Amino acid sequence: MNPRPLARSPRIRFSRPEDEEQLLAIKCEVFEGCRLDRERRRWRWEFEDNPAARSHLPRAAVVEEGPHLYGYFAFVPYRMQIGSDVVSAGDGIDLCITDQARGLGLAHPLVATLWDEGPFEFPFTAGINRASRHLFSAHGATLIGGQDDPIAFVYFLHDAHPPCPKVKDITVQRVDEFDEREDALWQRIRKDHSLILVRDAASLNWRYRDYPFQECLLLRATAKDGASRGIAVVQFDPARQCWYLLELLHDSEDSNACLALLVAAREAVDGSSAEALYYSTRWQPQHAPLQAADFRPLPGDVPNFMGKLPEQSPVSVRDWYTSLGDGDPLFEVGVEAS
Ligand SMILES: CC(C)(COP(=O)(O)OP(=O)(O)OC[C@H]1O[C@@H](n2cnc3c(N)ncnc32)[C@H](O)[C@@H]1OP(=O)(O)O)[C@@H](O)C(=O)NCCC(=O)NCCS
Repeated sequence: MNPRPLARSPRIRFSRPEDEEQLLAIKCEVFEGCRLDRERRRWRWEFEDNPAARSHLPRAAVVEEGPHLYGYFAFVPYRMQIGSDVVSAGDGIDLCITDQARGLGLAHPLVATLWDEGPFEFPFTAGINRASRHLFSAHGATLIGGQDDPIAFVYFLHDAHPPCPKVKDITVQRVDEFDEREDALWQRIRKDHSLILVRDAASLNWRYRDYPFQECLLLRATAKDGASRGIAVVQFDPARQCWYLLELLHDSEDSNACLALLVAAREAVDGSSAEALYYSTRWQPQHAPLQAADFRPLPGDVPNFMGKLPEQSPVSVRDWYTSLGDGDPLFEVGVEAS
């Protein structure tokens, strides 16, 4: 697309709004199966609709020489709770350098814009390949999940299962969106976690209600007084023909709400021809309800996450409460094949 060879030494800088069309064209050149109209739509959702967006935060770092760009690394903004403080977090996505600029030693300075003294207090990434694992760990990111740290669970739809336990006094209903009940839920559950992406109603609605390519099923568990006891989000993946339980939130003590939501998630997918409903958690309080709902641990090398905390943080990356909905690995779900 751009003229070759590179005449001078390229420089790396943060992106400007006028770069964005070129960035999306580069993405379509480097990553197979991307289409410009869909990438524009995704970019609008990732940045313009995102409640964590702040005007001072750069959306990407770019490789530039003369009037042309030759690569970029984008940063989807999130808010992260570290300890009890909420700080800015950036999810590094779409790392790419075009063919004519590869092998020039640009990858390290490009990834350093996020991982070393970048604009975010918690840089992270999810869904890692060999290149990103190599590059990000060289810049101090810690890997969690994956082969050595299995955190995946599966419910096989067509296996024989013991009858689902009945949960008294909790009703689970499908809802169109999350509201102030989930803001109140978030204020309770955040006390159970020292490292967690913010999950208030605005964040949950952006990620799941407003996701542009495939509908998500939003579930709310309520007690008799109508308060939200927890939420779950389920999504079908037409490309892989499987289901994901992307989100499952409740108080640490509330194994009843957890179980009621797991049962409702099962009921939502039972009867479909897909084979499996996948879930992932690093959180011990969910293990007994998962077992009761006949979700089985699934050894494997996904999902995986990388993050980096400020030096001398009392919190460890291993404390991170992760979910399948965090970061961009499933931002492709529902995108039709070209
Ligand atoms: C990943 C990418 C940005 C690296 O750019 P590059 O110009 O090829 O990288 P460099 O030549 O500067 O190499 C930097 C280092 O990364 C390593 N590296 C590059 N590609 C790699 C790969 N596919 N697997 C493992 N390591 C890789 C190099 O060996 C080098 O190692 P060093 O730290 O010992 O020097 C580029 O190859 C690319 O755009 N790939 C396609 C998109 C992609 O896979 N992105 C990553 C995940 S979204």
